[in-house]
Amino acid sequence: MAEAVALLRCERRHYDWVGVYLLEDSELVLGPFVGKPTPHARIPLTQGICGAAASSGTTVIVDDVNADPRYLACSLETRSEIVVPITRNGKVLGEIDIDSDMPAAFTDEDRVLLEEVAQILAEKL
Ligand code: SME
Repeated sequence: MAEAVALLRCERRHYDWVGVYLLEDSELVLGPFVGKPTPHARIPLTQGICGAAASSGTTVIVDDVNADPRYLACSLETRSEIVVPITRNGKVLGEIDIDSDMPAAFTDEDRVLLEEVAQILAEKL
């Protein structure tokens, strides 16, 4: 997981914060990440964009985090976010969370790439 987040951060210029959260009971617990420290080391499933993605089991892309009432702020510079669930046999194990300082930074290309990475991680968890 640590290698995957480091590689994504290096290879994609618009990925400013890259991390993995793992689901433990009803909370998302921060695992390996690259970027500024975040106050959100544990996120209940009922909170944040992270909670929304994990509880729905589907990828969430937010083009403007400041316009989304679910958003839990991590850095003042963050403008957009993508959260991709890591699932195995329909069960959510965790998620990949990426923040960008660019508005609307995430496209379908990012979604496809990150859903493939999530699949690889799911097989190793
Ligand atoms: N922005 C996330 C919280 C995690 S930080 O981005 C690292 C959210 O709204 O769930």
